Amino acid sequence: MHSRDCVKVAVRVRPFNKRERDAGSRCIIAMAASSISIQDPRDPQCRRSFCFDYAYWSHSGYVIDDRTGLYLPEEAGGRYADQECVFQDLGEGILENALQGYNSTLLAYGQTGSGKSYSMVGYKPNKGLVPKLCERLFEASKENQDTRQCQGSICTRTVFFSMLEIYNEQVVDLLSRGSRPPGGLRVREEQHRGFYVEGLRTVPCDSAAQIEQLMEQGTRTRTTAATLMNANSSRSHMLIVLQLKQILSKESVTKQSNINLVDLAGSERQRSASSEADRLKEGTAINLSLTTLGNVISALADMAVGRKVVHVPYRDSVLTKLLQSALGGNSRTVMIATLSPADICYEESLSTLRYAERAKHIQNRPVVNESPTERLVKELKAENARLMQRLSRLGQDGRSANDETKEIRQLLTHNELQIRTIHTLWEQHLQEALKDWEQQYANITQERRMMQMHPYILNINEDAQLSGVVKLFIPEGEWDIGINEGTSRSISIKGLGIQQRHAVLKNEQRHVTLTPLKGSKVTINGRVVSQTTELQHLDRVILGSNCTYLYIGFPSERGANDWSRYDYDYFLSELAEAEGIHLGENSTDSCQTDPSLLAVFYDYIRLMPLVAEANQMSQELNKGVEFKLEIKNLVLSDSKGHDLEKEIVCRVTSTHSKQVWVWSKAKFVNRKFLMEEIYQKHLEEMKGQNTEEGLSTAALPREKDPFWDPVEPLLLGTAHLWLQSLAFRIPVDEQLEVLGSEGSEEAILQAKLIPCTPDGLPLGEDEILIEPSELLGRRLDVQLVLEQCFGLHWIRESRDRGIQIGFHLFDSASRVYTAAAWRHVNPMLRHTVHFASLNVSQQLLDYLQTSAVLLELWGLQEGCASLVSPLERARGNTEGIFIIDLNGMADTNVQPADCLEPNSSLSRLQRDLEEQKRVNNTLLKENQRLRTQLNGGDSTRSRSVRPSCDAEFARSLKRFYHSMTSVRAQLQSLQRRRPCESCDLLGLRLFVDEHSGMLKDFSENLEQSVSALKHDVATIVRRKRERLGTWS
Ligand SMILES: Nc1ncnc2c1ncn2[C@@H]1O[C@H](COP(=O)(O)OP(=O)(O)O)[C@@H](O)[C@H]1O
Ligand SMILES: [Mg+2]
Repeated sequence: MHSRDCVKVAVRVRPFNKRERDAGSRCIIAMAASSISIQDPRDPQCRRSFCFDYAYWSHSGYVIDDRTGLYLPEEAGGRYADQECVFQDLGEGILENALQGYNSTLLAYGQTGSGKSYSMVGYKPNKGLVPKLCERLFEASKENQDTRQCQGSICTRTVFFSMLEIYNEQVVDLLSRGSRPPGGLRVREEQHRGFYVEGLRTVPCDSAAQIEQLMEQGTRTRTTAATLMNANSSRSHMLIVLQLKQILSKESVTKQSNINLVDLAGSERQRSASSEADRLKEGTAINLSLTTLGNVISALADMAVGRKVVHVPYRDSVLTKLLQSALGGNSRTVMIATLSPADICYEESLSTLRYAERAKHIQNRPVVNESPTERLVKELKAENARLMQRLSRLGQDGRSANDETKEIRQLLTHNELQIRTIHTLWEQHLQEALKDWEQQYANITQERRMMQMHPYILNINEDAQLSGVVKLFIPEGEWDIGINEGTSRSISIKGLGIQQRHAVLKNEQRHVTLTPLKGSKVTINGRVVSQTTELQHLDRVILGSNCTYLYIGFPSERGANDWSRYDYDYFLSELAEAEGIHLGENSTDSCQTDPSLLAVFYDYIRLMPLVAEANQMSQELNKGVEFKLEIKNLVLSDSKGHDLEKEIVCRVTSTHSKQVWVWSKAKFVNRKFLMEEIYQKHLEEMKGQNTEEGLSTAALPREKDPFWDPVEPLLLGTAHLWLQSLAFRIPVDEQLEVLGSEGSEEAILQAKLIPCTPDGLPLGEDEILIEPSELLGRRLDVQLVLEQCFGLHWIRESRDRGIQIGFHLFDSASRVYTAAAWRHVNPMLRHTVHFASLNVSQQLLDYLQTSAVLLELWGLQEGCASLVSPLERARGNTEGIFIIDLNGMADTNVQPADCLEPNSSLSRLQRDLEEQKRVNNTLLKENQRLRTQLNGGDSTRSRSVRPSCDAEFARSLKRFYHSMTSVRAQLQSLQRRRPCESCDLLGLRLFVDEHSGMLKDFSENLEQSVSALKHDVATIVRRKRERLGTWS
């Protein structure tokens, strides 16, 4: 069979998690049958719809069974899609495929925490697709065996299990217990097999329980690998491969199929990787595999709709190599895209849906597989049969052919032997695996026993799937906890910032205490401790930068309390609280909190451990930089002072030079990843050399060092200089507070705005305007003077620094900077800039009345060049006046040409072009505005602008004529109206009554219109006289 088969796509939306509930999130996902729609939280009218093969509503309408802990639909046939329902649709199909001999692949895609692992692996007792599939596989084998045996056919079915992780393009065998090869396992390619992982452990299994056991083992390896490599599981892909071999003796058919089950890395990484510019972006592969998967899917989707695709980049990443057959090849493939329902995840969810949308177009060509081994068995059997036939024929012929018979018999035995070897090999494998499994089982029983005897600490991971996997027991006595391996009185842990001997755990007289050792960091319940502390059941313990454990007390202390409440988020919130950041335990409070604000806080909390780790790495690698998170308030950079969003940045300080950098969040995340890579290499080197020497990592050139960046000027803060009084030509002289991004006072800045003559002489008081609109169409000259800065915090911190003030006004293209002032806490600036609008436009007037100039305080550091405006000279005319409000100039055809110095003609042309573009833009906007005004939309203008007499007169005439239209209509209807021929006296009287009523209305209307006109004319005349000063 060689048919085309589209990738099947399912989407699933999970319940709110605690964080989303606390934030008062709204569900923005809706589903009906197999279609799904998502609402833009900022624009509720905007809904996007998608259609997939399956849509699973697992958001609401469920109950948790008290006894079993299973999530079940509230009522039978309810809309809630539980694990079983998902398995029925997706799992059964995959199983059926595999049994028929097709390869199948199941991929889970979605942002971290959206429910990928829940769907794939599940959380006990809510088993996911993988364990359910395995259970059903062995059940099916058994059923199958029974029926087949009845039919006299023997089916041997073998299942091989392997489990691997791809992290940073390295393959880690999750079932191998030996030491891991540096650089991971190799991915090789063979003509028949395609890509495969060399030396990957594949374990034969004969029960679902055994597979579950192996998965547990794999998860454990994953957890330790994560702490060891300081890796984040959300960045790694987990791949489980089930190899199924079936030998059907009667049909002489052997089928082999692979089931790939893939829990992909969090999709959010891909976006953040591509969103931000960073000097070191080129070299990063935050998740090369995920990015490439996206590219492969795009290429295949394009191909499916008939677009020409030159190249599908399978070979660009490890994951796509291994999944090559699943994507556009020999496999039946299902993707489950998981979504968070919450409004704050809108962007991510939308991007997941788009990704899934593309994936559903991919076409595969699945075929039933026969592997070389199976073919061999088949061929051997065939040969046997042939030989038998010849043998019997020889006997019949009665010819004495002793030699030939002997030879044939030999061949026969040889063949049979080979067949037997193939079968016994499997038996042997199985036996080995069983022995292995028994050992594992013994370990688990042992662990259970220990749990009932001793207190212990339990690992808590950011990934819920990896939490509670590692248990470190604290039997009676005194134990060193730290890296130290091999000593009998120690508990060995690894991770960033963990010392050789980190702390001492003492279990004495049914009390457990923890004593941090010198130089090591220990945090208990959010507080850093340095003294011996007694641990209480369910205390949260953080060792080093980010090794998080929950203390489980003596069995008698435990009670019925479940520890699941203390997840990773709980640890983080507790830490944040210690830093003074409180987040909505109290739901009434948080309901009112702006979700975008909450999102920022959660971001902050999530980044905290990363920053701690970056600091630890910096320290261990002797990088001499410190990282610190800051919440930047964007209100400071808005010229209208609106409270916009907040943003997280990372402040990087060099510990000895005191140089400072500010990194965006995306840049930090990117750099952190690179740091990990370098740190990992460093550790490997250390292991190899076993010296303290390698610590400098001096070999790394600066340009490639993620801890290093060239020094650059730093935006320290801003001050708002409000322009309103300029609209009245009133001067301003103010002491302004320059506020840093966190609201701290960075300096005081003395600034003036002086309305002046074109020669720069200040205007007198008699030039003050009562009505700003009088500025329209006239020339306005202003000097902005920056006198002095006081109390510069930046210079106080370190004397060899400097500052500059930068700003830009209205439509001027370039920023103006003051000269750099170095090493002075209260530097004189005496910087004057003369601005002029040759023809004040409405826009400039509006700007003056509502906006402020943002005066930016820039910090200079040793080794960085000061800031200059590239266009500064171009915009100033010969007297150094900066012409603004080009819109107004365009109106009167005043050319700014005389302002330009004859520079290179090309650059001037470019500038002209830019200018033209901008003028066009402003004109467009102006047109737009005028249009809305014409439609009566803008009432502010009629208030603030005094129209000319002619215009006023025109308008009142227009009003008069308008009212006259209805008067005329009334007159016409009066004229047309006649009494009917046959009407009697009563009828006539009624007619006259009606007529006189209409006549009355008519005359009233006419009267009103005329008097309105009279009134308007009188007002216009009065105003005109008022303006001419002849009214007394
Ligand atoms: N369909 C669901 N029903 C109930 N809980 C869910 C569901 N999907 C996810 N969860 C919960 O959400 C959390 C994150 O899910 P997880 O599968 O670990 O996310 P991911 O693997 O995508 O990072 C887990 O605590 C899990 O129990
Ligand atoms: Mg997961």
